[in-house]
Order: sequence, then C-alpha cells, then structure tokens
Amino acid sequence: MIKKRRIPRLLQLVLIVAGVYFGFILTFDVILGQLIPKSLLTMYMFFVITGVLMVFTFTEESTRELIDPIKALVEDPSKKVLRNIVFVIVPLLAGIYTYSSLLPSFEAPVELRTIHPAPPSKMKAYGKRFDLATLENPYRKYEKEDPDKFRELVREGGDVYIKGCQYCHGDKLDGKGPYAAGLNPTPLNFQDVGTIAQLQESYIFWRIATGGPGLPAEAAPWISSMPIWEDFLSEDETWKVILFLYDYTGHQPRSWEHE
Ligand code: HEC
Repeated sequence: MIKKRRIPRLLQLVLIVAGVYFGFILTFDVILGQLIPKSLLTMYMFFVITGVLMVFTFTEESTRELIDPIKALVEDPSKKVLRNIVFVIVPLLAGIYTYSSLLPSFEAPVELRTIHPAPPSKMKAYGKRFDLATLENPYRKYEKEDPDKFRELVREGGDVYIKGCQYCHGDKLDGKGPYAAGLNPTPLNFQDVGTIAQLQESYIFWRIATGGPGLPAEAAPWISSMPIWEDFLSEDETWKVILFLYDYTGHQPRSWEHE
C-alpha cells in the first residue's frame, strides 16, 4: 500500500490556527463590516489554540508527530544551518515586538463605558412619574396634523437649544460646542447616526431631564457634565427641544410602530 504523503502535522497546526485567525478577521471586517476588538480576538484565539492542541496531542503518536520536527531542528546535526537561522530570527522578532510595544503611544486609553445604558422603566421628573415604555412626545402628532404649528414648535425648540445646549453640543449639533474640548466624556454629536437616530423620544426625554447624574451605575465610570435639565427647563420646553434635535439633524426618532 502506498502511504499518502500528508502535510506535516506541525504545518497543519499552524495552517489551521492561521486559517481560523484570518477567518475571524475576514468575517468581522469584510462581511460584517465591523472591527473585531483585539481583546475578544485574543480570547477566541486562546480557545481555538487550546482546542486544536488538544486534538493534535490526542494520541502519543500524534503528539510525537508534532514534536519530532521541533526536536529534529534542535538536535539533528544536518539541520545546523536552519537551526542557526531560526535561532537568530526568532529572538530578533521578539526583540522588535518588545521594542515597538515600549514606544510611547499617543492614543487615548481605552475606557469601557456604556454610551447608551438601558433606561429605567419608570422615571421621576417634574414631581411626576413617567412610564418610559409608553411615554411619547405630545407635540409629535402636529408633524402630520398641523405642519405650521409644528414648524413653530420646532423654532421654539431651537431657541431652547441655542440658550442651553449649543455651548456643549455645538451650534451645528455636532458635539463641537465651545466647551466641548474641556469635557470628558465629550458632549454627544447628534448628527452621528449612533445617537438620537437610534433612540426613542422617551429615552431622550429621560436623558435631558435627569442629565449625567441620572445615569445608572452601569454607565460608570461616568462623570458626565450633561446638566439635570429638569431644574432649568419646563416639561414643554424639553419636548420642544427634542423636536428641534430631530428636525435639524433630519433623523427620525425610533418608535414602536416603525419597527
Ligand atoms: C455642560 C455641557 C452640556 C450642556 C450645556 C448640554 N449637554 Fe447634553 N450632554 C453633555 C455630555 C457631556 C453628554 C454625553 C455624556 C452623557 O450622555 O451624559 C451629553 C449627552 C446628551 C444626550 C444623550 C444623547 C444620547 O445619545 O444618549 C442628550 C439627549 C443631550 N445631551 C441633550 C442636551 C440638550 C437638549 C441640552 C440643552 C437643553 C444639552 N444636552 C446641554 C453635555 C452637555
């Protein structure tokens, strides 16, 4: 019987691990269009490598097939040249890696925080309790029923915005107000599709009325400068400024009906 020539086990192992690694990157980056976080990738790869090693060292024979080429590299006199090359290149690569990770990085340190924490189901503001699951903007209906009245309400909301919000959120609603540079976390950019476009008006109402201090513990570490607007704006003014935020940016609030 002719023995089939197989790919050496060690190479098989390297190919499988590399294949899975690039598979992850390809799936996330190209197909899903999202970068896979490095910490997650490290975790996945840890399990993949552990699993593959378990399979490859299942029997004594398979373990030997894996280890023999490494042993040969170290011990076999005929592999002297290869050995010298490997033993120069490996420490060199390790050295380069260590050196490059010692270079200072100017990237902001990672701070994990929930930008949109889950809202409470009920909230208290203006001495009342609001049920956030059913709360709606009382002025939203005029968008269809009475467009002239709606424009007027948006304009009034714009006044509230210019008086109270543009210092931080910017006069273009892009989060680049004159105070923004001094704040961390930075004021949110409402033009970005990741903020108000993703949210319901009741959520925005909760965030404006209770501000940074109203955020739940899961949003920590959080020292948001977003004021508690309940103390400065009436309920009506809050709903109007919400109309303005959506009108100016052209985003639609998320609603139960549209989903
Ligand atoms: C002193 C600066 C400051 C002012 C003034 C301010 N904000 Fe903010 N606001 C922030 C910061 C910082 C954040 C981001 C951190 C957070 O979510 O609390 C934020 C977040 C928000 C959010 C949350 C958006 C989201 O996607 O979760 C809304 C809504 C908001 N602001 C509306 C307003 C409105 C409306 C006004 C004016 C009535 C206003 N802000 C005035 C600093 C400010």
